[in-house]
Amino acid sequence: MTWHVMLEVVRDGPVPLGAQIADQLRQQVERGLLTPGTRLPSSRQLAKDLRVSRSVVVEAYEKLTGEGLLESVRGSGTRVAAHADTRIRKSVVLVDRAVPRVRFNLLPGTPNPATFPHREWTTSYQRAVESARWQGLGYPPLLGVDRLRTELVSYLGRVRGVLGSPDDTMVTGGFAHALGLVCAALRELGIDRLAVEDPSHDRQRQFIEENGVRTVAVPVGPDGLEIEPLYASGVRAVLVTPSHQFPLGVPMSPQRREELVRWARDTGGWIVEDDYDGGLWLEQRGRHLALQPTGPDRVIYAGTASKLLAPGLRLGWMVLPPRLTALMERVRVRRDLGCDGLMQLAFADFLRSGMLDAHLRRMRTRYRAQHSALMRAVERCLPAATLVGPVAGLHAYAVLPEGVDEEALVDRALGLSVLIKGGRIFHDRPHTARPGLVLGYTALGRSGIEEAISRIGQAYEQQHGGICRAS
Ligand SMILES: Cc1ncc(COP(=O)(O)O)c(C=O)c1O
Repeated sequence: MTWHVMLEVVRDGPVPLGAQIADQLRQQVERGLLTPGTRLPSSRQLAKDLRVSRSVVVEAYEKLTGEGLLESVRGSGTRVAAHADTRIRKSVVLVDRAVPRVRFNLLPGTPNPATFPHREWTTSYQRAVESARWQGLGYPPLLGVDRLRTELVSYLGRVRGVLGSPDDTMVTGGFAHALGLVCAALRELGIDRLAVEDPSHDRQRQFIEENGVRTVAVPVGPDGLEIEPLYASGVRAVLVTPSHQFPLGVPMSPQRREELVRWARDTGGWIVEDDYDGGLWLEQRGRHLALQPTGPDRVIYAGTASKLLAPGLRLGWMVLPPRLTALMERVRVRRDLGCDGLMQLAFADFLRSGMLDAHLRRMRTRYRAQHSALMRAVERCLPAATLVGPVAGLHAYAVLPEGVDEEALVDRALGLSVLIKGGRIFHDRPHTARPGLVLGYTALGRSGIEEAISRIGQAYEQQHGGICRAS
């Protein structure tokens, strides 16, 4: 193997050749261009590339080895030393700090990677690679690869009741990407405020603001988003999670859906539907379809593979009101050149062959069992908490009695190696919101869930007293 590095030497300058090589390598290591463990060319190879004598390179390598920046490993040449770059190691520490290592992780939102259908996905991906021609290997169409858009329309119609055509379907890099495009399109339409549900995803609100659109919090009631404050706010666009409100879980009632679409038609407003865990309804009855078919002319429907399969795929989709499609393409052409074509072909195959349906059937069974374990454990060990919302998606919301110090409870739980998120940060005015917990249950098995909730119960007991009843 002939490894390559970017070095140049000036032959008739004042600095000796060996020092030039050493200086450039040192700088590249310090700037993080050559990362720890990177293999360098052999002294013979580098001498040939730079047309200098081998002893010059050997001298430079020895100097940097003496400084501890390089190390030579018998049989595998010279490498950048494992500890050489402090900048990179620092950022790893920061990432680690963001998600502390704990025994029980109940953060909401992500399917357990162990349940990813590796074999089936590999089959689809292999077929995608084998069948890829221009579609897949050339620049993909901005709306997305035809095959995937056709499959998506058929899947979303069948499973979520979405009405649309492939011509108005756009493949995106997850919902976050779709939301960025929506913000840009709204600004083109002269709309610079977007109503969001209160409570809603805190990072999403921040993301919207960073995309140049102000957020306006509108409360969520037992039937979903309140309509009167929406009219009163004077906004012309709103972002909702009607099937499984995030984070409370409450689905928007059929009457509220009609009212919301009427608001959009009355005001010329747009509704952005974030169907983030659509299709993961875990009870047999009471399943909610998408809002989009109630007003396909006013609803931008958006979905994602992040909860259904894995967020690492960065795969999402929008079904657009036809009159917004050209605008969305115009907005997008200034930002990116489309999504990974092979990934799109693989997902098209995954949908067409029924492997997503089969995977979700397995996941529903699994999540149902996990949710039951969670309910039993909360009843037994955290009886002061009330789980609200339907049995759906990847998380449950527990309301705590007024007066509970939510932050202290989350901290105490962390002290017992249980990572949870409090409910207040999702509210527009956290200090006035009722305390609560958002409990993700996909990472743990039944006994893990029981142990985790029992530890939260202990933390609660330390704060407020109470008992964990025997099972
Ligand atoms: C409310 C909500 N919408 C959407 C998403 C998914 O975003 P993405 O598709 O960019 O992964 C998440 C992920 O956590 C979410 O919580």
